[in-house]
Amino acid sequence: MVAGMTLTPWEVKGTIDYDKIVQEFGVEKIDSALLARLEKHAKKKGLVLHHLLRRHIFFAHRDLKFILDEYEKGNRFFLYTGRAPSGNTHLGHLVPWLFTKWLQDVFDVELWFQFPDEEKFLFKEELTLEETARYTEENMKDVIALGFDPKKTHFLVDTRHAGVMFPEAIKVAKRITFSTAKAAFGFSNEQNIGAIFYTAMQAVPAFLPSVLRKKPLPCLIPHAIDQDPHFRVSRDVIPRLGYPKPASIQCRFLPGLAGMEKDGKMSSTSGDQATIYTTDDAKAVKQKINKYAFSGGRETVEAHRRLGGNPDVDVSYQWLLFFEEDDAKLERIYRDYKSGKLLSGELKAILIEKLTAFLAKHQAARQRAQPEKFLWAPGKK
Ligand code: TRP
Repeated sequence: MVAGMTLTPWEVKGTIDYDKIVQEFGVEKIDSALLARLEKHAKKKGLVLHHLLRRHIFFAHRDLKFILDEYEKGNRFFLYTGRAPSGNTHLGHLVPWLFTKWLQDVFDVELWFQFPDEEKFLFKEELTLEETARYTEENMKDVIALGFDPKKTHFLVDTRHAGVMFPEAIKVAKRITFSTAKAAFGFSNEQNIGAIFYTAMQAVPAFLPSVLRKKPLPCLIPHAIDQDPHFRVSRDVIPRLGYPKPASIQCRFLPGLAGMEKDGKMSSTSGDQATIYTTDDAKAVKQKINKYAFSGGRETVEAHRRLGGNPDVDVSYQWLLFFEEDDAKLERIYRDYKSGKLLSGELKAILIEKLTAFLAKHQAARQRAQPEKFLWAPGKK
């Protein structure tokens, strides 16, 4: 837990101070030397450095150097990330997955994707297992729609793959005390015991491929920064089981539509109205952005023309940092908004157009998605 804000895997509140997080979590900032190394590998595949790296949205890591050193020696790593099904997918969820897809393309590596369908069941009073089963299926379609290679991508569903995962999870759980879990996650004595155990399940995919293949395979975990406490704990345990310490790379949150001061990250708990889901149609996207996106513009057109807007607090501009890949276009928008040439309504229209095009493509791919092709089958290596 970080002083002055709430940041645990289950709750994010207040203004998120990323520098403070780097210090208190003990992650390292991604420096220019690492960016250059990643860029070199991207170029070999005819790709450019991902805009989420160029803009420091993926901003921190643990042991990324080790992953690249191993890779350059010919020792391939695997990727691991996940999504606890508890609702429909919104745009914020897609951010780490989009980046994970780029990593799969650049390094041509396997991805293990966990759907811990017990997690939110244990943490949310009202959620039933029937509901999480339905969300698992829906969330899978969103992951698939991003274009992961079915031959190199394996879905793990905790309740379904428990037979393989549980024996590994108990080895982890045996080495984590309640006081460690309390310190890492802020649990009180009132927490249910399933929730306390859960982190052991989230540790498993970080070394399961090594178990299955019977050789030590390096693991890289792309994730939003709130998940770091899980891996801080499991990184201490996994080497003691004889597997490589997993590396990780962390991103910031997509700000909520209401603005960064009021809303640390976009979350469905701030209400359906102010959240953009992957299944929203063009009309809903337009209406939500026009109505809710916090504006850095002035009170009147006249004042805006004279004084200019503030892109640094404008949510539409901040969202374009996540979704508009073209640096030159973005720079132009920044300049024009700041000078007053571009009005708030016009900036919103640019974002609406971008997201509508993205979602149309995403929704078509979602329709074609076949989750059964991605489910890992025991026996399959
Ligand atoms: N706990 C994550 C969530 O709430 C799901 C998850 C499982 C995950 N394994 C992961 C996220 C690995 C990132 C990396 O959605």
